[in-house]
Parts: sequence; structure tokens; C-alpha cells
Amino acid sequence: MSGPRVEILDSATDVAERAAARIAAACAAPSPVLGLATGRTPLAVYAALRERIAPGGLRLDHATFFNLDEYAGLPPGHPASFASYMRRELFDPASVPEGRWHLPDGNGGPAEADGYEAAIAAAGGIGLQLLGIGRNGHVGFNEPGAAHDSRTRRVRLTEQTRQANAPDFPAGTPVPEHAVTMGIGTILEAREILLLATGAAKAEALAAALEGPVTEAVPASALQRHPRVTVLCDVAAGRNLRRMAA
Ligand code: PGA
Repeated sequence: MSGPRVEILDSATDVAERAAARIAAACAAPSPVLGLATGRTPLAVYAALRERIAPGGLRLDHATFFNLDEYAGLPPGHPASFASYMRRELFDPASVPEGRWHLPDGNGGPAEADGYEAAIAAAGGIGLQLLGIGRNGHVGFNEPGAAHDSRTRRVRLTEQTRQANAPDFPAGTPVPEHAVTMGIGTILEAREILLLATGAAKAEALAAALEGPVTEAVPASALQRHPRVTVLCDVAAGRNLRRMAA
């Protein structure tokens, strides 16, 4: 088994540029379907994409997007929701029409979660899925212990994740305790996966995910089973890896 291909780049800026170039290439196809992620890591990727959007240049308005996850319990339009994040960072500046971008319904139940899976399937499946990694090895909001064949569903967030995301919420506003996330099984069905990790805080999780055992204790370790994973990390996030850049 060859496992994920790892590129260790000099800086977080290089990671963002490389990721943006890969996404732009995927969007050169006629009907691209992309899976997107939120969090701090992809912010620079979306900034790089915004810079590339130009008449005669990069267009994203013909692509279909499915995001990994959404908080539960936030009213529509809440500024800390992932829907608001995506509109702000990419969908509005890139003029992606409503109906072409999708997030799980954070306030939905099992029927809405199943509907999300059905929408992905109806679009032809996800061609390229962008992923971050949590300090506890989570992907999407699949926290440690999540089954590797899990599907889109409501989950409880760990304290660590809630604390990591607290800066996105106004002072005094608690981070939701639940969310709806694509499952690990859902993510693994993407035809290609691009995992981004930047900063020393991710070094341990990244090494465990790529070089440790495949285990439900480290959700991202499931990616070792996927045939087409590229990991883009900076030297700080890659410093615990035994292997060197491809
Ligand atoms: P971050 O989140 O990019 O904000 O570090 C990554 C994640 O939790 O998946």
C-alpha cells in the first residue's frame, strides 16, 4: 500500500497556493463537484481562490459544492455558522449561485442527513474533497471514536474542539455542543482527497494520522485506506513525520 502522498512545503502560504491551484484545476472540468472545509486553515486557500477569480480566469459559478459540516442550534445566518463563513469567504465573492452550494442542515434530523447523502450522490459524488485536521485527529466533526464507515449524522463535539473554535463566536456566546457532519465513510467516497495541515499544533495529529495505526481513536487515520490522498503541510505541521516529502 502506498498510502497518502505527502508534500511538505516551506510555509502555510505555499500550502494555500498549492491547494488553490489544485482546486482551480479541478474546476476546469465541465461539471466539477467539490467538497469543502471550514476552519482557520482553509481561509488562506479561499483568499488565494478569490484572487484568481477574474473574467476570463478562474470561474467557480458552474461548480457544485458540498461542505463537511455545520453547527447545530444556530439560527440561519448566524455569523459563526459555517454557511455564513462559506458565503463570506468564497461563495458570494465567487458568485456561486444558491442551489449550487450545500451544507448539512445543522438543525435537521436523520431524514435531512440522509437527504444530504442523497444530494451528494445525485450530483455524481464528490470529485475532490478538501479537508483540515483537528488537533485530536478529527476530520469534519468526526471526533475520536467515530466509525470509519459513518455517514452524515448529528454528533457531539468534544470540549477540545469547542475550545479550539471558541474564537469564532462572540464573547459570551457558547460554542454549540452538537453539529451535523459528513461521516468518515462519506468522506472516503470522494474520488480524491486533499488534506491540509499547517502549524506546529497539528504536528502530532498529522503524524498519528499518516504513520500511526488505522484506528477509530484517530479519525484521520482512515485516510490511509483511500487510494488518492494528497497531504499538503508546512514544515511546522510536518515536523513529526518520519517520511520525507515525495
Ligand atoms: P482549523 O480546523 O483549520 O481551524 O485548525 C481544522 C479542523 O478542525 O478540522
